[in-house]
Amino acid sequence: MEGFITRLPKAELHLHIEGTLEPEMAFALAARHGVTLPYASVEAMRDAYRFSDLQSFLDIYYAGADLLRDAADFHALTSAYLRKAHQQGVVHVEIFFDPQTHTQRGVPLESVVGGIRSALLAAERDCGITHRLILCFLRHLSAEDAMATLEQALRLRDSISADVFSAVGLDSSEAGHPPGKFTAVFERARQAGLLAVAHAGEEGPAQYIHDALELLKVRRIDHGVRCEEDPALVRRLARERMPLTVCPLSNIKLHVFDRIEAHNLKRLLDLGLCVTVNSDDPAYFGGYVLENYLAVQRGLDLSKADLELLARNSIEASFLPPAQQRRWMAAIDQVAREG
Ligand code: ADE
Ligand code: ZN
Repeated sequence: MEGFITRLPKAELHLHIEGTLEPEMAFALAARHGVTLPYASVEAMRDAYRFSDLQSFLDIYYAGADLLRDAADFHALTSAYLRKAHQQGVVHVEIFFDPQTHTQRGVPLESVVGGIRSALLAAERDCGITHRLILCFLRHLSAEDAMATLEQALRLRDSISADVFSAVGLDSSEAGHPPGKFTAVFERARQAGLLAVAHAGEEGPAQYIHDALELLKVRRIDHGVRCEEDPALVRRLARERMPLTVCPLSNIKLHVFDRIEAHNLKRLLDLGLCVTVNSDDPAYFGGYVLENYLAVQRGLDLSKADLELLARNSIEASFLPPAQQRRWMAAIDQVAREG
């Protein structure tokens, strides 16, 4: 199974680049910047990754992100992730980053984007992995702050390239911060030619998924697993082939589901939803894309046909143009034939 999953061409569509900061790199960055970490060792740091809910994770995740201080740090972080993804058969990535997490600390947006982008372009050149970059707004901050961040990003786009950003997203603490708070921001992003995605229905209710569709006009729902609480919404998601970027190991670590055997991924797949498998914050949740596929394969007894469908869905749900999607679908056909 591991070989089969690795050989399947896959897109990763839900990946926070800040969530790929492995403890080893955290210690290296801490040494580089003269910071003392509150952990005695790499093992102690990894051991501390026990979370009770989304917020308890976010507190540690933002503390880790504080180690990222210049373009070289963002380049190293992104390169390490892309190496790993490539080894696991990921052929296309759509990466989230949180500009506000960094600009609030005085790190220039140019350094963040410059470091991530140089690594993305190098990986495309060296191993053919393609990419899109998605800037996410922190939903616990104000809509005004998000709007100012968007305007800053649009000015930066003018000085880099029209295609530097593909979409905007919405992440951070979900409960109590409904999508409607950001309607005007997403409208401005759309006017500026950007697509939209949003985290919804991870910890928040099914209503937030509905709101993300209606108010933010999203093209995908990140997580979305709580859609099951509203059968009419589930039918709509299936009818519209609205992709869900599901992150199984994240859902277990953050107690969205008690155990992998209780995850609803297979049920949603069988209902015809465009479910995809992703890693969210792999350094914190114990696995990259391959480990997420393996976890659901074992926990939910997925067949090779199910795995093939998940890979196809990831290509269908990507922002790749139709010709490139057809190319990857043909490559999946080939792997499926070979078994
Ligand atoms: N930021 C990083 N990972 C996240 C998640 N799973 N949910 C919300 N915000 C996040
Ligand atoms: Zn996420």
